[in-house]
Amino acid sequence: MASQSTSTVPRLTLIVAATPKRLGIGRNGQLPWRIPAELAYFARVTKACPPNKRNAVIMGRKTYDSIPPKFRPLPERLNVILTRQKGWTLPEDELLKGAVVREGFTEALEALGNDENIHRVFIIGGAEIYRETIKHQEADRVLLTVVEGEGLDDVEGEKACDTTFEEARPVIEEKEGWTRRSDEELREWTGETAELLGGVAKGVKYEYRMYTR
Ligand SMILES: NC(=O)c1ccc[n+]([C@@H]2O[C@H](COP(=O)([O-])OP(=O)(O)OC[C@H]3O[C@@H](n4cnc5c(N)ncnc54)[C@H](OP(=O)(O)O)[C@@H]3O)[C@@H](O)[C@H]2O)c1
Repeated sequence: MASQSTSTVPRLTLIVAATPKRLGIGRNGQLPWRIPAELAYFARVTKACPPNKRNAVIMGRKTYDSIPPKFRPLPERLNVILTRQKGWTLPEDELLKGAVVREGFTEALEALGNDENIHRVFIIGGAEIYRETIKHQEADRVLLTVVEGEGLDDVEGEKACDTTFEEARPVIEEKEGWTRRSDEELREWTGETAELLGGVAKGVKYEYRMYTR
């Protein structure tokens, strides 16, 4: 990522769902929970933009692979898939539907920063991509869904998540310049209108939060 040429590097928003204690985000290459309302929130927020514009979602190759083929690329958003494998590409139809493959952050971000049709740039995971992004000052906003099992071991338990995002601890603890914004600010930024920013699905509690630095 080019941290010097800030004029062409867009601001980045990480959008992530994690358990509050271990910051678990994945299991066996998938999400450790199934919360349809949270997936719908993710889709609404990452799609929301003014007319004639679209948002970009940047993800690691493994996260792209984890999306069922019939749902990818994620519609109404430019999907940017990062890989280090030279020449790795996607089937023609997925490229035509709005996916691009990039071999590095710098290349990906500079292209987006120079694209006037792009409104917001979201980093949608997984762990490796979140970790690399959060080191950089351009990443100044985190939309965090806190996912907590009410006594459910399979969500917060030691065995539940094999992938964690430990680097988000300063965010959730409001250290190193990170501050939790109010629910009103979250609604204003995301366009969400629901009174409740979260809910409970099969005993799993989820809560939408926004942090900035
Ligand atoms: N809870 C959530 O909100 C959330 C969100 C998304 C994903 N997840 C979960 O996270 C897990 C996947 O995370 P992960 O860390 O294993 O994989 P990942 O971050 O999705 O993908 C890693 C891959 O991205 C590519 N990559 C990473 N850094 C790169 C760079 N600087 N330049 C170019 N390519 C780069 C490499 O692809 P190549 O190997 O092809 O070179 C690398 O293997 C899954 O369990 C998924 O369900 C959770």
